[in-house]
Amino acid sequence: MYDPVYTRAFYNMYAEAEWLRLEKTAFGRLKAIIHNDFIKRYIRPGDRVLDAGSGPGRFSITITENGGKVTVLDISDHQLTLAKQKLTEAKVLGCVEQFIEADIVDLSMFSTGHFDSVICYGGALSYVCEKRYEAAAELIRVTRPGGFILVSVMSLLGGLLTIITQQRDLSALRSPEDTMSFRPGLWEVLDTGNLLSFPSKSVEKQHAPMHLYTAEELQNLFKGCDVLEVVGSNVTTSEFSNALEEISADSHAWSTLIELERKLNSNPGLVNSGNHIILVARR
Ligand SMILES: C[S@@+](CC[C@H](N)C(=O)[O-])C[C@H]1O[C@@H](n2cnc3c(N)ncnc32)[C@H](O)[C@@H]1O
Repeated sequence: MYDPVYTRAFYNMYAEAEWLRLEKTAFGRLKAIIHNDFIKRYIRPGDRVLDAGSGPGRFSITITENGGKVTVLDISDHQLTLAKQKLTEAKVLGCVEQFIEADIVDLSMFSTGHFDSVICYGGALSYVCEKRYEAAAELIRVTRPGGFILVSVMSLLGGLLTIITQQRDLSALRSPEDTMSFRPGLWEVLDTGNLLSFPSKSVEKQHAPMHLYTAEELQNLFKGCDVLEVVGSNVTTSEFSNALEEISADSHAWSTLIELERKLNSNPGLVNSGNHIILVARR
C-alpha cells in the first residue's frame, strides 16, 4: 500500500487546493482552529520545531507566530514551494531554519533529540500506511526527551462515514463489497483501516493510499511516550451540512460552535467521530 511516489505526485498536483482546504469552507476553518489550539498550548518561544508533512505551511506559520523556529519538511516539492511562498507572504521566512524534501519514514538527516517539538498534522502518518511504525519511531526519535509530539491522522470511523455520505451514486451502500467509490470494499476498509483509493473532490486523480486510524490504535503507536491528549477534530460538524456555512456567517453562533467543539472533542464517545484524530504526547 505504502506508495511514496504516488503520494508525492498526488500532492504535487493537489498544490494550492491543499492550502484552500482549511480556508474555503467553515468545516476546514474549524479544523484549522482546533489544530492551532494545540500548537498554541504546547509550542514555546525559542522552540526548535519540525513541521513534518507540512503541506503549504499553514501550521508552520502558527509555529513561528508562537515564537518557534521551524524546519519545514514534506515529500512533495510543489507543497514545499508553496510553503516557501506562504511563509514569505506571512513575513515569517526569517523564522524558518530549513525546507527539506523528505519522507517521514526516514529522518536520518536529523540527530536524535534534535527538535524541542515535532508536529505532523493532516495525515502524513496516514499516507505511510504499513510503514507507520517506522515513521512514528522516527518522529519520536528526533524529539528531545520531555519534548512534545503533536500528530493528526485520518479517522477510520469519521473518515469512512464522510466518504460514504459524499458519494452521490449510492454505490458504496448498494454494493459494499465492490463499490466504485473507493477501494477495497466497505467491509474490508472497516476491518483493516486500509483505504487504497477514492476519488479526490479537488483534482482529477485518485487519493493516495492511506491508513485510517481508531483513537486506540493511534495511542498504541505512541505507547512509549506519555500520551497527554487524544481528541477528535470536527466532532460537532458534518462536512456536507449546508447549515455550517450559515453558522459561520453569524459571529455569535460561530463562537458558540467553536466552544462546543472544544468542550466535546475529548469526549470518549466522540473522539472517533470527527474526520481527524489529534494526539499529543510527551517524549
Ligand atoms: C493533508 S496534507 C496536510 C498538510 C498540513 N500538515 C496540514 O495539516 O494542513 C498532507 C501532507 O503530507 C505530505 N506527506 C504525505 N506523505 C508523506 C511522507 N511520507 N513524508 C512526508 N510528507 C508526506 C503530503 O505531501 C502533504 O503535503
